[in-house]
Amino acid sequence: MYHIIMDNFTGKYCVVTYGCQMNLHESEKLAGILEDLGFTRIDNENNADIVVFNTCCIRENAEKKAEGNIGALKRIKRNKKDMIIAVGGCMTQQAGYADKLIKEFPFIDIVFGTHNLENFAEMLTERLENKKHVVKVDEKEGKIIEGTKKTRSSFPNGWVNITYGCNNFCTYCIVPYVRGRERSRAPEAILDECKQLLDAGYKEITLLGQNVNSYGQDLKTVDFAELIERISALDGDFRLRFMTNHPKDLNEKMVKAIAESPKTTRSVHLPVQAGSDRILKLMNRHYTRAEYLDKVALLRKYMPDIAITTDIMVGFPTETDEDFNDTVSLVKQVGFAGAFTFVYSPRTGTPAAKMAGQIPEEVSKERIMGLIDLQNGINRAQSKSYLGKETEILCEGFDEKKNKFLGRDTYGRMAYFDGKDLIGKFVNVKITKAGGISLYGELVSVKQ
Ligand code: 5AD
Ligand code: SF4
Repeated sequence: MYHIIMDNFTGKYCVVTYGCQMNLHESEKLAGILEDLGFTRIDNENNADIVVFNTCCIRENAEKKAEGNIGALKRIKRNKKDMIIAVGGCMTQQAGYADKLIKEFPFIDIVFGTHNLENFAEMLTERLENKKHVVKVDEKEGKIIEGTKKTRSSFPNGWVNITYGCNNFCTYCIVPYVRGRERSRAPEAILDECKQLLDAGYKEITLLGQNVNSYGQDLKTVDFAELIERISALDGDFRLRFMTNHPKDLNEKMVKAIAESPKTTRSVHLPVQAGSDRILKLMNRHYTRAEYLDKVALLRKYMPDIAITTDIMVGFPTETDEDFNDTVSLVKQVGFAGAFTFVYSPRTGTPAAKMAGQIPEEVSKERIMGLIDLQNGINRAQSKSYLGKETEILCEGFDEKKNKFLGRDTYGRMAYFDGKDLIGKFVNVKITKAGGISLYGELVSVKQ
């Protein structure tokens, strides 16, 4: 039940998020907008007065999951007519999708695109006043809107957008179609947000962009290296992370800036996608295997201990056993500190979806299993090398199931340990047990 009192609503909201960090951060903006209106958070969508689905469409399974969860609310809404259901995010931005969604799920109240998130309060007001569906999916990105309130949920880490959209058009990827062209945020706005986070006691800043390395190319007054330098010069004991890096745009100036910064962590996420030149070309990645390896060497020249993580895709159209073996050999050669592995999923509207030579699912599944096994072995060996050593961890949270605190070191490696009142503190942990990718240890000291 809503009480409209001088533009204020009361009730419980729940934001359900699918997909990447970018989406998780956008859900923090949605939560900020809803709390500003007077709603309070609840974690169970069935008991909420307003449910917002912040969706992802990067792979088919992300879409299926969201559609399943939306469908499940039909029964709940039948007995709770005032419940408001809103669907936003990447899924809704696909051509013709909003209409399809309303047709399939007529009980949805609001559909909004990735370029319309900041107007969510107006859409909600319109829906409550007119009792009609509200659909706002702008095809084109607008100017960057600053100042949207955020209710953050990731202390002591704060996410900060530096770019929106993507210009790369990798042939498998839907992101450029649903998030528009790349726009860089003004450096002053980024620095202000970082300062606010540090003043509020945050200990880690993660800069977000589809391709952080091309930050500033549209502004022409600043680049990623300079941004790193300026953020690193801010006062305080904090860590600076960023993701994602496109290998084609990683250059020596950036690598130097990262290496020389007292704040950046010793970890970089550098998606390779495939190890075969033929497949990389078909993917429109703009680098060869040798060029990728050169970027790895460049990172290691300035930071010999850097942990490099990656994304890898198997089953791209026409991928042969030989192509796949090139990916396997590259994984062995680099020794990644972690890899997200995906089976290629055709996305309507992308060039790869129309390519001949789509790979049968069984073949892709077998390949991905082999790759996961290989990377698991690498993870185990790297974890074992920690045994008996001390590492500095930023404590991020408490794992209820394990009944332990957890956090990551500068290499991004997760560790679990016992203690008291540690969230947001830097601690030294002596590693006593190595899991697959995670570590377990004893608390040695807490930095004051
Ligand atoms: N199918 C499978 N994986 C994909 N990714 C992007 N598009 C697709 C797709 N169509 C993966 C890439 C990217 C990561 C975020 O998701 O590996 O780096
Ligand atoms: Fe997609 Fe490629 Fe852009 Fe990453 S760089 S978002 S994979 S198009």
